[in-house]
Amino acid sequence: MALIEPVSSRLCFYNFKPPVADIEQEVLTGLRRPQPAIHPKFFYNARGSKLFEAITRQPEYYPTGTEKKLLRHIAPKLSALMPPNMLLAEPGAGNCEKVRLILDHWRPRAYMPIEISHDELLDAARALAMENPDLPIHAVRADYTAPIEWPDEAAPPRLVFFPGSTLGNFEPTDRAVFLRRMRELAGDGGGLLLGVDLHKDSALLNAAYNDAAGHTAAFNLNILHHLNDLLDAGFQPDGFDHVAFYNEDARRIEMHLRCRNVQHINIGGEQLKFAAGDTFHTENSYKFNRSDLNSYLEEAGFRMREWWETDEPAFGLCLADSV
Ligand code: AVJ
Repeated sequence: MALIEPVSSRLCFYNFKPPVADIEQEVLTGLRRPQPAIHPKFFYNARGSKLFEAITRQPEYYPTGTEKKLLRHIAPKLSALMPPNMLLAEPGAGNCEKVRLILDHWRPRAYMPIEISHDELLDAARALAMENPDLPIHAVRADYTAPIEWPDEAAPPRLVFFPGSTLGNFEPTDRAVFLRRMRELAGDGGGLLLGVDLHKDSALLNAAYNDAAGHTAAFNLNILHHLNDLLDAGFQPDGFDHVAFYNEDARRIEMHLRCRNVQHINIGGEQLKFAAGDTFHTENSYKFNRSDLNSYLEEAGFRMREWWETDEPAFGLCLADSV
């Protein structure tokens, strides 16, 4: 059951807090794999969200700035493209920075940010409510990789806004499941506004995930701090190195953490031991092209209506309709 807190007359906060026992099982399953892995959603506690924001301000990390430029360009066209009764839903809304570019030009019926980090969402939704006193906001704190029961007040049709190329975090099978779920969220008469990073020269990609100031390394290591806070797991983050590289064949950035010394981990009463040189796979960030994306969307019940892209660095935005 969600804990529902009316924050102000126009802002409601729905707290779907994931149970600790479920998190323990999920993390254990990942760590027991032949290639131990930790799901990238665990990057995002309050500190991780701040570290991600620091990454987006680094000169090497081009996706955020490039996508914001594109959004500024297309936002004035949105009101003509959108029917008037749409709700705007945003999975992984973070600090709700990008939606402001849209709200400057197009007014949805209501806004529903969905975010796993409790503090990040509450702060962002409060700030947005202050700036937009007339906009109803249904803030949903939840893990969107699992099914969610959407609040009755936030009925379809919905435009699902999924910027930042977060679609790249999903493995192909999970991506298909997620997109079908987004089609259900959009509803009949709804749509999807999706931002995706595009395949490009590997030097640019490698630099973007190995920024000189070290924010990406700190963000990667924070996943261990977060699991220590959640599960008292006993990771020693000082004993790990950040590893990130573009895997050309798989067309994805891979992030890993490599143990520099022995690690004794304890989760839910179970002991796990890792040796120097062992690695945890923490993230894939797939890079896309337009025609592949087109077929992923078709499979999920969307049809691409508009496509905009930048060149150098290449980044794409697409608007798709529910079919
Ligand atoms: C938020 C998932 C889009 O993959 O580029 C940034 C996360 N990881 N630097 C990405 C991330 C390392 C980011 N996404």
